[in-house]
Amino acid sequence: MKTLPDSLLERLPQIRSVCVMTGAGISAESGVPTFRGAEGLWKKFRPEELASIDAFLANPEIVWEWYSYRRTLLESVEPNAAHRALARLEAVVESMLLITQNVDGLHALAGSKNMVELHGNIRRSHCHACGNSVTELPRSEKGVVPVCEICGGLYRPSVVWFGEILPMEAFGRAERAAKVCDLFVLVGTSGVVYPAASIPFSAKSGGAYVLEINPEETELSRYADGIVRALATVGVPPLLEAFTQRG
Ligand code: APR
Repeated sequence: MKTLPDSLLERLPQIRSVCVMTGAGISAESGVPTFRGAEGLWKKFRPEELASIDAFLANPEIVWEWYSYRRTLLESVEPNAAHRALARLEAVVESMLLITQNVDGLHALAGSKNMVELHGNIRRSHCHACGNSVTELPRSEKGVVPVCEICGGLYRPSVVWFGEILPMEAFGRAERAAKVCDLFVLVGTSGVVYPAASIPFSAKSGGAYVLEINPEETELSRYADGIVRALATVGVPPLLEAFTQRG
């Protein structure tokens, strides 16, 4: 059964540069909960109590515990066929940038290189006071927030919380690549969180073909030129196949 839209297959010979933007949906089949799905994190937890600087300053232990729970969850998951196909696609097309909203680090584990993490990475932490960045955290009791060896400040996860600005360098790279790409692929994102959700529009106004891979309708579906209503592990590998066969 053909997965990719004819309108994309017709354009394939002209496609030189590709941008792929992923969201929580690409990691769902690896066992990482999404945010707004039926079993999504925001159905069980209140983002304003866990994913904002105010919440952290008001109750650092609770916020730290929650991110420790999510880090522990990641210890038992692996990249899936969609992550792996995107890592291989990078070697098949002339230029590709992977833009992810995910903080789970699974794209890097799958071997993706040319990538920007718009919302940071949960496997990194930095000191709230002096900014000292680490991947290995100093030991601390359960429920106790580890403190910075340099200044004694509290460590926080290096993720972008609600109300915080995105890392400018990462956002700038994503915007520039989107504006000049020939194909912009959305995988597993609801497209409701800005400014990340504005990037597909930069691609569209730059003349790119926008493809959405998602089992459900999203805020961005009506702007897509082509749609693959499928799970990521079903919808992404045919993209790699199509470019590999194109040679
Ligand atoms: N394959 C592909 N897509 C899937 C799958 C799957 N197996 N399972 C679910 N999806 C889709 C859902 O239909 C939904 O459109 O993934 C999307 C997940 O949407 P959200 O949970 O809103 O996640 P995301 O778009 O990444 O959220 C954006 O919001 O909470 C913040 O910072 C957080 O980066 C996150 C941002």
